[in-house]
This record gives sequence, structure tokens and C-alpha cells, in this order.
Amino acid sequence: MGSWTLDDIPWQRFDPTRLDPKIVSLAKAASLVEYNGAAYARHLCRVFAGDPAFQQSARCWGEEEVQHGMALARWAMLADPDFDFDAAFARFQSGYRIDFDRMFARRGSQAGEMLARCIVETGTSSFYTALREAAAEPVLREICHHIAADELRHYRLFYKNLGACLVRERLGRWARLKIALGRIAESEDDELAYAYYAANAADTAYDRQRCSRAYASRAFAIYRPHHIERGVAMILKAVGFTPNGWLGRTLARLSWQAMRWRFSRSAREAA
Ligand SMILES: [Fe+2]
Ligand SMILES: [Fe+2]
Repeated sequence: MGSWTLDDIPWQRFDPTRLDPKIVSLAKAASLVEYNGAAYARHLCRVFAGDPAFQQSARCWGEEEVQHGMALARWAMLADPDFDFDAAFARFQSGYRIDFDRMFARRGSQAGEMLARCIVETGTSSFYTALREAAAEPVLREICHHIAADELRHYRLFYKNLGACLVRERLGRWARLKIALGRIAESEDDELAYAYYAANAADTAYDRQRCSRAYASRAFAIYRPHHIERGVAMILKAVGFTPNGWLGRTLARLSWQAMRWRFSRSAREAA
């Protein structure tokens, strides 16, 4: 288990006057995705079948992801007493299935798998940092502080193992860049849109485009340029490029502009 537990969260400081419904809906969706972490841990144990030390780290990692889900779920039920986490998670699991074999084939190797995990942890580390800064409710801020620190540690765990994999495997920077871009594109897949639906909009039929826009219009709103700069640097480092040079600055600027454009479009269409 990680460096904190649910008992370390100051639940008594919960302040219902400082809630933002859009942030509550993001926290609910995130609780489902995080709580599903055990399934990914089992997948990593299969991919690294001959590496018991890494399997142990992957199991601890999975437990920490599940704890993220539990903390967010408990907070979301304080924020919205009508939120039924168990029912929402059951809906999420029945409607969103991960094809791990196809996913592994897409990555192609252990190094590819580690690189993809670095991209995911970059995304979650940025997301919870941005959520903490955007939230006014003190308990959620505390939860996000703990989760963001975990996600950064997870990135380091996978980055370190990526280095070990690259000693055994030949995977050049351009091949790594392709895998990284592929994983970033996958964030457009069903997972977040369906989690948003299962947590917030299950009284209507699932409309992927509508849920995707509703999620994006809320999620993109919390980011600021420094979150994007840091995220781009972490991705470049994992791919094998200099994180803070001209390439990083250029990509951070372009990514920020692209995100603002997508935020405006999704907010307009979701309205
Ligand atoms: Fe997490
Ligand atoms: Fe993580």
C-alpha cells in the first residue's frame, strides 16, 4: 500500500458551500476509472510474467489506483448524496470492456507497454494537479494533492522500468514517439466518455459524442499552460528527447492552443 490511506484525509473539513457541480462530475467519472486499476495491474503482471520484482511493484501500483478511486468515490458521495458509486461502477464495468490482448499488441513489447504507462501517468499527474488548483473545496484539494504525488511516483516507476526494458529491446526514439502518440490518441477512446456517462448521465441512453463533449468541456476547463508544459516535458523525457529545450517549448505552446480550441468547441457543442 502507498504512503497514505483514507484515514489521512480530513473528511471533517468537507465544505458543501465550496462545491462546483462541474468539478463534482469530473471527480465522479475519475473515481470509476481509478477504481478499475486492479484490472490493469493484472495485465501488467501477465506482460512481465518472468519478472516477480516488477510484478510486485505493479500489484502495489494497482492497489494505489484502487485507493484513488475509493477516496474520490467517498468525496463524491459527500458532495452528492444521491451518487451511488457501486451502481455507477457496475454500469461502467458492464458497458466498458478493455481488450488487454489487443492493447498489448498495439504497444508491441514490454518497453512499449511501459512507455504507454508513462503517458497515462503523465496525464493523471497533470489532471489531479490541475483539479487541485481548480477546486475550492478543501477535502477534494487534499485528496488531489495525495493522488497527484502518487501519479508522479507511478510515472517514475514506469520510466525506470522502461529504461531496464530498453537495455533488452531495440526501440528507437521514433518508434517510441509513435507509441506515445498512439496512446495519447487512445485518450479519445470510450473510457473517459463512458465513465462520465456511467457516473453522471445514466438516466439517458449512451451517446458517445455527447458524453465525450460533456467530459471534455469540463476537463479542459481546469488546465493552465504550466500543466501542459510539464506534461509535454514528461512525455518527451519518456520518448527520449530533451524535455525542456526548444522542442518542448514549441510543443507545449501548440498543445495549449490545441486544447483551448478543443475546449471552446466542446463547450459550444455541449451547451
Ligand atoms: Fe490514479
Ligand atoms: Fe497512477
